[in-house]
Parts: sequence; structure tokens; C-alpha cells
Amino acid sequence: MSTKTKHSGRFITIEGTEGVGKSTNVAYISKRIERAGFELVLTREPGGTVLAENIRELLLAPSEEKMAVDTELLLVFAARAQHLHQVIKPALARGAWVLSDRFTDATYAYQGFGRGIDLQRISELEAFVQGSLRPDLTILLDAPVQIGLARAVARGKLDRIELEQQSFFERVREGYHQQMEKEPQRFAKIDASLDLAGVEQQVDQLIRTRLGI
Ligand SMILES: Nc1ncnc2c1ncn2[C@@H]1O[C@H](COP(=O)(O)OP(=O)(O)OP(=O)(O)O)[C@@H](O)[C@H]1O
Ligand SMILES: [Mg+2]
Repeated sequence: MSTKTKHSGRFITIEGTEGVGKSTNVAYISKRIERAGFELVLTREPGGTVLAENIRELLLAPSEEKMAVDTELLLVFAARAQHLHQVIKPALARGAWVLSDRFTDATYAYQGFGRGIDLQRISELEAFVQGSLRPDLTILLDAPVQIGLARAVARGKLDRIELEQQSFFERVREGYHQQMEKEPQRFAKIDASLDLAGVEQQVDQLIRTRLGI
């Protein structure tokens, strides 16, 4: 391992409502980090390990039996506990960078603001599962929900969450805004309504100013 990668690990998360371009931009950001010579672990939530991806399947598969909101919340955190144990913590401990497509801000936004679960409960689970671990930087891709949903529809079949009403996603978007207001120094907001070149330009500048690469 080069000295450059040692103890330099950063934990970066990318957030936003359906179809805003998280996965697209994660691919772009990882190229930039790797080009700078750092070891990068690219991962996603819910998921990121075999077990956690199985939990993701449970969460996203449309089902006849309606999933209780508390079940959804606990499954999300169960997957996260596995992800942290198996992937995120070991990577950060050896000095690698970790870039995750969604993390706990999504739980506040979807299960808190979207489903209406008390935020205090989420924060208790966050403390239980993560201790004091928080992302160093969270990139919020923000766009009117219709824009993202139209992109998701054009991409193909919708999952259990994507089948929600527009009002659900409006609450989720508002939830992300409120999370950002609580911790403005951790968040960076990108206008994701622009075309891909416009979004990449903002991401590029953000990487230079916030990550120094
Ligand atoms: N800025 C953009 N302008 C137009 N289309 C875009 C833009 N960014 C991404 N797309 C396209 O929109 C679709 C959704 O993008 P992507 O899968 O990256 O979104 P996502 O936020 O990861 O979605 P999900 O929430 O479902 O994981 C893809 O087909 C992608 O190519
Ligand atoms: Mg995605």
C-alpha cells in the first residue's frame, strides 16, 4: 500500500430521490477518486454485501402483504449493520475511501419524512448501529421529483418504493432538505435537474473544492 492511501480514508455518500442520477454520478466520482490514486470501495444501500443485498431484495420486491413501516425501518438498519461490519468499517480502517450510493440520510428521508416514522427513533437506531460514524461528505442530488421519476420510468420496471405516490416523494425531497439544514457543513447540494453535462460540471467543482482532488 502506498503512503498516499494510508489513514486518508474518507466516507462519501450520495443521496436524492428516485432517478435523480445517483448511480450515474457515483460512477463518475469513483473515476475521479481512483485517478487521484486512492483505493476506493464503491458500494450502495440498502445492500453492499451478499446478506445485505438479500435484505434489499426483501425491501424492494412488490408484495401482496403490506410491509409494516417499522419492519421496513428495521430491515434497512439490519442491512446497514451488516454493511458497516463487513465493508465500510474495514475499508476506512485500512485508509481506503468509501463511496456509498445512499446511506442513513435516506432512512431519515424515506422512512422518517416519507413514511412518517418519528425521527427520534431513527436517530436512536443510528446511534445503536453506527456509534459516532457519519459520512465526511454527503452529496445531495436535488431535482423536482417528477424529473427523477420520469428518468426512472424511462429506465424500466418500477420497484416497490418507486411505485409510491408523488406526494410520498415530495415529502422525501423535503426530508433531504431538512437533513441538509441540520448539518450544512456535511452536505453539498447539486442541481440534478440539468442535463448530464451540467450535473457533471457541478460535481467536478465540488470534488475539487471539498475533496481537494
Ligand atoms: N442529468 C441527467 N439528465 C438526463 N438523464 C439522466 C441524468 N442523470 C441520469 N440520467 C438517466 O436517468 C436514469 C436514472 O439515473 P440513475 O440510475 O443514475 O438514477 P438513481 O438516482 O441512481 O436512481 P435510483 O434512485 O432508482 O437508484 C438513467 O437512465 C440515467 O442514464
Ligand atoms: Mg441508483
